[in-house]
Amino acid sequence: MPLAIVGASGSLGFAILKALLDQGLVIASDLILTTSSSAGAQKLQDAALKGAVTRHVNWDDDQGAWEAALQGCDKVFLISSSRIAKDFNDAPLGQGREADHFKALEAAKAVGVEHIYYASLAFANPSKSDVMTAHERTENWLKQNWSGKYTIIREGLYNESWPLYFGHYNIPDDERTEVPIAGDSKISWTSIPDLGMANAIIFAAPSEEWADKTCYLSQSQAHSLNDVAAMISKLKGKDVRVKVVPREEHETFYVQKRGMEEPFVKWWSKSYDALRDNECEIQDPTLELLLGKQSLKPKQMEATVAEMLA
Ligand SMILES: *[C@@H]1O[C@H](CO)[C@@H](O)[C@H](O)[C@H]1NC(C)=O
Ligand SMILES: *[C@@H]1O[C@H](CO)[C@@H](O)[C@H](O)[C@H]1NC(C)=O
Repeated sequence: MPLAIVGASGSLGFAILKALLDQGLVIASDLILTTSSSAGAQKLQDAALKGAVTRHVNWDDDQGAWEAALQGCDKVFLISSSRIAKDFNDAPLGQGREADHFKALEAAKAVGVEHIYYASLAFANPSKSDVMTAHERTENWLKQNWSGKYTIIREGLYNESWPLYFGHYNIPDDERTEVPIAGDSKISWTSIPDLGMANAIIFAAPSEEWADKTCYLSQSQAHSLNDVAAMISKLKGKDVRVKVVPREEHETFYVQKRGMEEPFVKWWSKSYDALRDNECEIQDPTLELLLGKQSLKPKQMEATVAEMLA
């Protein structure tokens, strides 16, 4: 029963692979790992030595190449495309990152894949954030156009992504004491190793257990950006605060004062509208239940911030 991970050398894919093998949830020779680069293939070498098959495919390849990459797989874990620039300037349906996903999914359909596991994101659906648009479109596609089984996993916001939310904070040399953001509320930050473990357990379980389900994988302990500011202040020994400003002011600040690309800033800034609606404080016990099965507890956000500032 071969299982494929699309994007196995990326941070989430690799964490899933590691958990699958370290915990003995599957045997390596049942795994097909796709990667888009030779650096990725290098990273997968250990798994390959244990018997996993590595296949090269990237989002620019045609559907035929994707069919070859997914040939013979029963289950496919699809990690979303990271080509965020495709989403900029309000890309219409079928032109954003979902286009990458649709191609892989059409290929999976053509070669008879039975079960798709899709790594979505832990915002509401529908969301006010543009970050979620490609995920919403892909979730809808799975519900309407996929005839096999599917599982939608809305992945908690990565522990290590806090600088992005925290006013594009520049860890090594950000001297700001006041960081403008366009909205704040609690976020259920989740560490990548914890996500790797929980996704691996879901992926390795009998297909029926998760068929046609949607869940969140998020820590129940949530922290606002204001809370993160307090963590940074403590670690740096100086006061760092967030200042909530209107979205337009936020966009102007990051484009004009910090020299960031406008299409990116505009795409990103609506995430703060989602925060104002409290979209990222997630109440779903799934992550903690799954980690509990392996006698693990989620890692705490304070530790993450400390590790990254160190
Ligand atoms: C499902 O597929 C049809 C035909 O390709 C397409 O028109 C429709 O938009 C798809 N649905 C979704 C939700 O993408
Ligand atoms: C945060 O994420 C990084 C990158 O995956 C990981 O190495 C680290 O252990 C995580 N830290 C905590 C405290 O969860």
